[in-house]
Amino acid sequence: MLERSLISKIDSREATVGVVGLGYVGLPLAVEFVRAGFHVVGFELARAKIEGVRRGMSHVGDVPNDRLAEAVETGRLVATDDFDRLGDADAICICVPTPLNKTGDPDVSYIMSVTDSIGRTLRPGQLVVLKSTTYPGTTRELLLPALSEAGGLRVGDDFFLAFSPERVDPGNPHWTISNTPKIVGGMTPACASAAVALFSTIIDNVIPVSSTEAAELVKLLENTFRSVNIALANEMAVVCDKLGVDVWEVIEAAATKPFGFMRFTPGPGLGGHCIPVDPHYLSWKMKTLDYKTRLVELASEINAEMPAYVAQKAADALNQEGKPVRGSRVLVLGVAYKPDVADTRESPALDIIRLLASKGAEVYYHDPFVPSLEHEGQALSSVTLDLGVLAATDLIVIVTDHSSVDYEMIRSSGRPVVDTRNVLRHDPVEEAPSAVQAAEAN
Ligand SMILES: NC(=O)c1ccc[n+]([C@@H]2O[C@H](COP(=O)([O-])OP(=O)(O)OC[C@H]3O[C@@H](n4cnc5c(N)ncnc54)[C@H](O)[C@@H]3O)[C@@H](O)[C@H]2O)c1
Repeated sequence: MLERSLISKIDSREATVGVVGLGYVGLPLAVEFVRAGFHVVGFELARAKIEGVRRGMSHVGDVPNDRLAEAVETGRLVATDDFDRLGDADAICICVPTPLNKTGDPDVSYIMSVTDSIGRTLRPGQLVVLKSTTYPGTTRELLLPALSEAGGLRVGDDFFLAFSPERVDPGNPHWTISNTPKIVGGMTPACASAAVALFSTIIDNVIPVSSTEAAELVKLLENTFRSVNIALANEMAVVCDKLGVDVWEVIEAAATKPFGFMRFTPGPGLGGHCIPVDPHYLSWKMKTLDYKTRLVELASEINAEMPAYVAQKAADALNQEGKPVRGSRVLVLGVAYKPDVADTRESPALDIIRLLASKGAEVYYHDPFVPSLEHEGQALSSVTLDLGVLAATDLIVIVTDHSSVDYEMIRSSGRPVVDTRNVLRHDPVEEAPSAVQAAEAN
């Protein structure tokens, strides 16, 4: 019965939606629910983000200020750190971080802290959906007992619990929240129905799977698939380098096969909050079941070695110029983990800067999306990209291929380049004699 009344509240938009964690996943989701006609309460710990949302100033590239401001001004989006208000929400989406801890194991403490807060105000008729990427079993083994015990309520009858992985691709103008199909796994069929009803208000195609474990694994398969295939492309880059063959030519030619091949490209190593992290959630869970996910771990290992490979390529390129790394001036072009976003989490650029600086290079960077960077206790600022800076640079290392960078100027500077993204591919060979085709993030 409660399921039906919740679904009818959702269908009529009388339901209030709570979004916990207003980051790269939560803020766009909150704004999308507002657009669908809901009142949304965003729960956040970071004071600066709450204040920013209240002023209509977005901290997420995919959410324009005007859309955020409109949502706030109409009173449909409220940001708060008052977790007692969780009881006001009919449906709650959990979008908090799931990083690795210092030993490389899953850190589910953010999820557990939110679950505790939800448990304190859980009431009959509420739907809780975990969206944070995590290992299979998290929803059933951690959230279900914590919520059931806290509220004394029965899942599927009194409250509803589901897992629905997030597929947002920040900076992707083509695949948005609404047109990217959504996977939902409910703890019971009633839980699945309620979650499908919720997401169907903002997403064209919602696909239920039979359990929360299946939904959790879908996300890990998707991202492990990328990690393994990027690792293969990275290994191919090393193979081609040793054979004196252009890896990009080989990949482009292989990609002409209309079936049985999918194009992945090498790069400087994995970056971002997902691809370098998520496979470890799977490996960790399987270790608890005495199974070693060998392929998954090997892929992570190969990908993790790429920044050192690029740093070595940089040293080789300087050597070609008769220069040691120590004292050379190296410009790292792009420090975000992927093009046209400002996110530097886990960016391989940070490792490359550290490795080159530790060998004595004077490293600076340019990134149109990242004006300043806190790196190993040091504050770095993006340098202006002009011919003067380039003339004083011994080597350029292209790590992130932002589309607004003037690559023609890089070409015309005549400076040696380690081009990990093959962005200078149209260069005549003689224009960039020191270009080393290496490696891509995710
Ligand atoms: N960023 C992506 O592209 C992406 C894509 C798919 C899935 N995911 C997954 O989604 C989850 C969230 O990722 P994100 O990139 O949005 O992270 P994020 O760091 O950008 O945002 C998380 C937010 O949660 C807040 N927070 C932390 N603890 C909280 C608490 N107890 N109560 C309220 N707020 C709290 C943080 O202050 C932060 O603003 C992660 O599990 C991630 O793996 C991310």
